[in-house]
Amino acid sequence: MGHRPKVLIHRAEIARTVRSLAGRIQADYAGKNPVLIGALKGCFVFMSDLVRALDIPLTVDFLGVFSYAAGTESSGTVRLLHDFRNPVQGRHVVVVEDIVDTGCTLAFILEHLKTKSPASIRVCALLDKPSRRRVPVSIDYLGFTVPNRFIVGYGLDFDEYFRNLPDLCVLEEDA
Ligand code: PRP
Repeated sequence: MGHRPKVLIHRAEIARTVRSLAGRIQADYAGKNPVLIGALKGCFVFMSDLVRALDIPLTVDFLGVFSYAAGTESSGTVRLLHDFRNPVQGRHVVVVEDIVDTGCTLAFILEHLKTKSPASIRVCALLDKPSRRRVPVSIDYLGFTVPNRFIVGYGLDFDEYFRNLPDLCVLEEDA
């Protein structure tokens, strides 16, 4: 039995939404030299499109976090695989996430960041799946609210595959 991706959000709609998110961030962070911190691996496509749509001085950094067991179910346990590289003390931080599902990963990242004394922290997430929330978290810049389906593509994976799909897709099982 295999998995067939079916387009949920087309690349053109993603591109429009990324431009709109970037416009809002750019207006809010003019003169603030923010650092955008992405949560790997899922953020890598979104992050690269987002930063290229931002025409303000900024820096980028990455956290390596992992929350899912193999397959489609979240383990609920978040592990830090590698920390961001540059100090964030006194910096305006925008956390960039591909998807907020249970909220466990984002809550972990926010707690971790708060111990490093940044000037401010906001969150930009491409996707929100509120029906799955276990930990309350707020998202300042949100792309799309999505239903409780397993979503792949545009950086998101199933067992590490499908991250390279240019559209956001749901997986349908072949008979
Ligand atoms: C995914 C996604 C988010 C997190 C959201 O990462 O990229 O970081 O899960 O889930 P949560 O809200 O239930 O915590 P994952 O741990 O699958 O690793 P990946 O980014 O390397 O795919």
